[in-house]
Amino acid sequence: MADFVEIFEMGPRDGLQNEKRLIPADEKIALVDLLSTAGFRRIEVTSFVSPKWVPQMADAAQVMAGIHRVPGVSYAVLTPNMQGYQAARVAKANEIAIFASASEAFSKANLNATIAESLARFAPVAKAALADGVPVRGYVSMVTDSPFEGDVVAPENVARVVAALRDMGCYEISLGDTIGQATPEKIDTMLTAVLDQMPAEKLAGHYHDTAGRALLNIDASLARGLRVFDAAVGGLGGCPYAPGAKGNVATETVAAHLAAQGYETGLNMDVIQEAANMARAMRVAA
Ligand code: HMG
Ligand code: MG
Repeated sequence: MADFVEIFEMGPRDGLQNEKRLIPADEKIALVDLLSTAGFRRIEVTSFVSPKWVPQMADAAQVMAGIHRVPGVSYAVLTPNMQGYQAARVAKANEIAIFASASEAFSKANLNATIAESLARFAPVAKAALADGVPVRGYVSMVTDSPFEGDVVAPENVARVVAALRDMGCYEISLGDTIGQATPEKIDTMLTAVLDQMPAEKLAGHYHDTAGRALLNIDASLARGLRVFDAAVGGLGGCPYAPGAKGNVATETVAAHLAAQGYETGLNMDVIQEAANMARAMRVAA
């Protein structure tokens, strides 16, 4: 049987959070509903973050209430603090994600908190979620490069944040090349440090494709045993607080790349292509 690699679909959240046009909730709902028929196990739908910080996600509750949930699909949301977690619970998110950074400057820019402060803020969120039976995923951003430090991010710093999120009970930790400047060599070095803290089967690669190396970085990660990759249909995305961050690697590109290597993804390529067209049309329909 072919080796299974899962793509965690990020399009509705990471894909749309950075768009200039305020995309109406019904368009987002239509995208999620289409994605729900593509064979994904997990879809990141939206973020319960401050609408002042990310206006694109201000309709999180409306989107969550409007989607048609397919049994077996986990609908995930980002929660930066208890306020976000409480809203995510009301919205019946199947799982939540807490999102930290290996870069101090990005942590300040994205969360208005130092890394230590952000982790202290995430601890009660994770505790409450686990008590409620809600799985918690963790992110570490800027795992190799940062636009702020102007230099590579030390792998030990990534490993330290991974360990903190692991200790909070995250079932999986996604490693973010937020600005898409990683190389396979840097990913490999970073993974050497991270794999001391968390096994490959509990790690995911979240690679933006700014420099066009995301597929190479996925291959480097596959070689180290990772089997989950985040991607967004149409290659949309980027973080508004990370200068230079462009789109996530495109789901349709990753799916084709994996299939060509003989991996099974369980995805319907026609539906993914249709969703990619829909997502790209949202961007231009200004
Ligand atoms: P703050 O301003 O320090 O928050 O922001 P605060 O606690 O002082 O509250 C200020 C105001 O925000 C208050 O409202 C709160 O009610 C409100 P006011 O009294 O002024 O009217 N507020 C909220 N409203 C709704 N939902 C909430 C919430 N929390 C506070 N949850 C905060 C701190 C963390 C809230 C802010 O910095 C924030 O929302 N940051 C999120 C930024 C973000 O979403 N970035 C993109 C996602 S991360 C990413 O893309 C990277 C990733 O893809 C991986 C990778 O690529 O590396 C995951
Ligand atoms: Mg991202």
